[in-house]
Amino acid sequence: MKSIVIYSSQTGNTKKLAEAVYSALSGEKSIYPIGEAPEPSGFDLVCVGFWLMAGKPDPKSQEYLKKITSQKLFLFATHGASATSRHVQNAMEEAIRLAPESDIIGSFSCSGEVNPKVIEKAGSKPEPPAWLDDAPKAVGHPDQADLKNVIRRLEESL
Ligand SMILES: Cc1cc2nc3c(=O)[nH]c(=O)nc-3n(C[C@H](O)[C@H](O)[C@H](O)COP(=O)(O)O)c2cc1C
Repeated sequence: MKSIVIYSSQTGNTKKLAEAVYSALSGEKSIYPIGEAPEPSGFDLVCVGFWLMAGKPDPKSQEYLKKITSQKLFLFATHGASATSRHVQNAMEEAIRLAPESDIIGSFSCSGEVNPKVIEKAGSKPEPPAWLDDAPKAVGHPDQADLKNVIRRLEESL
């Protein structure tokens, strides 16, 4: 099976998950930051990692997900919000909607430490986003347990 891992990551959280996913794949495999990613056609399995921005997959990931057609797709993500929140579920559902013809084999997400400048800026808005309340709990994530968990989820999905 020919597999590719594509990740979008500004501050490195999603990149950590991507590297864990990559390490767990066998067979022909490659990994790319989203800005250098080849087209998904020609791969059997595409693993796409995104970060949440304004409650959705970040814009670059949205564009890439739209290109995926019949490939197997494994989605993974990091976010400031709690992994069990409706906010995160909605974002994952949005990612699935963007690749309607893909064969989604599984998904995983976990908290990702939020840049303090982002916390400060978002927190100073007249109506700070609700996900910001969870940001203190995201400090230190993804951690080793998160990396083990994404690998476990991938292996269960294959
Ligand atoms: C501009 C901006 C918007 C964000 N919006 C959200 C959001 O809507 N929900 C959320 O849970 N986290 C949000 N975050 C937090 C990031 O998704 C989170 O810290 C993520 O782990 C960053 O991943 P990265 O290190 O791979 O870039 C936002 C961060 C930034 C910079």
